[in-house]
Formats: sequence, C-alpha cells, structure tokens
Amino acid sequence: MATLAQPRPEEFTDPLDVSRADLYVEDKWQEPFRRLRAEAPVHYCKDSAFGPYWSVSSYKPIVHVEALPEIFSSEAGGITLADRFEDDYKMPMFIARDRPVHTGQRRTVAPAFGPSEIARMGEDVRRRTVEILDELPWGETFDWVDRVSIELTTQMLAILFDFPWEDRRKLTFWSDWAGDIELVHDEASRQERLGHMFECMTYFRKLWDAKVDKEPTPDLISMMIHSEAMSNMDDHEFIGNLILLIVGGNDTTRNSMSGAIYGLNQFADERTKLEQNPGLIPNAVQEIIRWQTPLAHMRRTATQDTELEGQQIKAGDKLALWYISANRDESVFPNADKLIVDRENARRHLAFGYGIHRCVGARLAELQIQVLLEEMAKRRMRVEVMEEPVRVRACFVHGYRKMPVRIVKY
Ligand code: HEM
Repeated sequence: MATLAQPRPEEFTDPLDVSRADLYVEDKWQEPFRRLRAEAPVHYCKDSAFGPYWSVSSYKPIVHVEALPEIFSSEAGGITLADRFEDDYKMPMFIARDRPVHTGQRRTVAPAFGPSEIARMGEDVRRRTVEILDELPWGETFDWVDRVSIELTTQMLAILFDFPWEDRRKLTFWSDWAGDIELVHDEASRQERLGHMFECMTYFRKLWDAKVDKEPTPDLISMMIHSEAMSNMDDHEFIGNLILLIVGGNDTTRNSMSGAIYGLNQFADERTKLEQNPGLIPNAVQEIIRWQTPLAHMRRTATQDTELEGQQIKAGDKLALWYISANRDESVFPNADKLIVDRENARRHLAFGYGIHRCVGARLAELQIQVLLEEMAKRRMRVEVMEEPVRVRACFVHGYRKMPVRIVKY
C-alpha cells in the first residue's frame, strides 16, 4: 500500500513534525498530537523527512477533506506522506486512484467483502482461530505477534486469494516489503524491493493463468478475472491491486489483534469488564480498532487552492490525515486515551477512513477480531504482556513487531 521515499529522520527536530518515526517506535506520539489538536488542527510543517506537508489532526477537518475527493486527491500524490519513486507509478492501486477509475475497480472487489460473503467466511475464520488458539502453550512466554496475529491474518488472506497454503507466509513477506517504509532506505534496498515485487507478480500471474477461462470461483482472483473493470488490467495494475489487497488486509488486522492484547493489559479494569460480560465483545472490537488505529495516516494532495479551517492550502500541497489523532479527539471521544470496552460511540472512529475510499475490508477485519476475542473468552484465556512490545518504526503502519506474552486462566 505504501509508496516509498527515503526519510532522513535525524535531521528533523520540529516538535510538531509528527511524521518522525521515533515518535511511534518509542510510543511518544500522543503529546505532539494533543498540542496540534489544541493549537493548530490544520498545521503546516515546513520541513520534514517527507518534505513540507499539512497535518490535519482533528476529527472534523479530516471528515471534511475525505468528503471532497475532487479537491483532495488520492491519485495526485499517492496515499502516504512518502513520495513515490518513478517505478511505483507502474503499480497503480485503486486506493490511490480518483473517480471514475476508482469507482469501477472498487465495485469489482467490494462483493468479496459483502454481508453474505462475510457470513460464509465466518465459519472458516472460526475454525482457523480455534486451531491456532488450541496450539498455544499456557504459562510459557511466546511472541503473540508471530504466533497469533500474523498467522491468523495470513491464513485469512490465503483463503481470500485461494493461495497455496504451504506458501502462505510469502504473503506476509511481500506485504512487509510493499508496505514497510523502514525496509527501504537506499538504492540497494529499493532494488531488492522491486525484485520481491516482481517475484510476487510472477507468482500471482501463475495463479491468474490457472483460473482464466475456468468457471468462476468465490475468491478474489477469480472475481477480478470475471469483472469488466479489472479483467483488462496490465501487469502493473494487476500487481498493484493485488498488493493493495494483501497489504490492506495484512498489517492492519494483524496490528489490531496485537493492539487488543496490549490495550486490555494497559487497562486491567476494562479487561475484567470484558471477561465478565462477553456480550460486550462486538463493541470492544470497535473500541480496540479506535484505540489502536493501525494506519496512522492517509495522505491527500490538493488539486486546487482552497481553504481549510482558515488555512490557505495551495494546489499541489500534501496533507496527512492523522486518523491516529482524530481517534483521540476529546471533543468526540471523552477520556480518549483510555480503551473503554463499552464506550458508547466507539463505532464513530475514523480508523477505516471516511467517504469513497473507506476501507472495503472493514467487515472482514471486524469479524476476525471478534472471533478471536470470542474464542479467547470461551477458553477463559487471559493474555498477559510480559515486557514492552517492539513497535514498528514508521508514521504509516502503527503497530508491533514483537509482543512477548503468557496465557493464564481467569
Ligand atoms: C482502505 C484501514 C482492513 C482492504 C483503507 C483505508 C484505511 C483502512 C484507513 C483508506 C481510507 C481512505 O483513504 O480514506 C484498515 C484497517 C483495517 C483494514 C484499520 C483493519 C483493522 C482491511 C482488510 C482488507 C482491506 C482486511 C482486505 C482484505 C482495503 C482496501 C482499501 C482499504 C482494498 C481501498 C479502498 C478504496 O480505496 O476504496 N483501509 N483496513 N483493509 N482497505 Fe482497509
């Protein structure tokens, strides 16, 4: 999903430059965003590792920007603060397209995530979740990220794509290379990334060829083959949209599953509330996604001069929509830093975005997290975090690399 440039973090010290990766790896992003929301909800950062950009950090202006896709384009500059390399233009994804192309391509994949498909996938999700949970050791320390979060999300993607089961960790590998800003830091690593993306394309092209001219099957590749909007895509557009679906469904759901464990550990009173009343799980899922906000921002680029909250935005300016901050906006979510499992308006969170690009996989993500919490509850499984997790060093994907945990019964 990400489009990558080369950040030079040490050189930038503006305390209100919230694109600094250190803020996220050290979990110190809360304070600068508090200041931004209070003092300058639409703030111009003149200089950063990603060049100049506007920070939009409160709830209302983010919704405003997302509701005007003609003025604030996803296509003009891509969806992350990092500018794209030339090569990346050859991997167009519909998340980074504007109308009308976006409309047709989104319409093609959307049915794969509709209510009837989700209901159909529910059984599969539960079966996989049960298998993974039943293999976990009790009373021993292990890494939750690797054994549960990554494994569950990867299995789900393999099902969605009808991907060869034994190779499924390739999906995680490609997804990390496609979306992880940290991995690409010089020309050599950029070339390495292109190599992996080429391998990914070749692999999927084979899967595609095996399904062409066959009866439709209920997986994403077959759906793309049999759709008007997507069947004539060239290789680059094909791989771009596949990578979008892989990355879109991978890091995000993975980090919600890890965030659930971390958040419930931080607020033991809320964990007890949930343990005593599993009926709160559907609401807790919304609250966990709000509290974690697995994608810290999406970017838009202004297509014309315009005004936003009294600030003059120029055509070509880039704007970071900081969902991570909007979801802590106290005017919408009182006591916003706390994870409150029965929070009344948890559903209003912006972690899935808003408007025409709102996450197409939201229901699937919610289903996976809900089933995980339900199966943990059935086993009276409490997951205790044993030491501080290792976090992702990036201002885009907001999540965890490692989280040592231990399971006990409650
Ligand atoms: C779009 C977040 C899970 C596929 C988005 C956007 C966000 C987001 C913020 C962009 C909104 C915008 O630009 O306005 C999340 C989060 C997830 C999640 C937080 C998990 C908790 C998934 C899953 C899939 C998926 C499971 C698919 C397997 C996509 C796609 C788009 C998208 C294809 C592009 C939609 C469009 O441009 O119309 N997601 N996502 N996401 N997401 Fe997700």
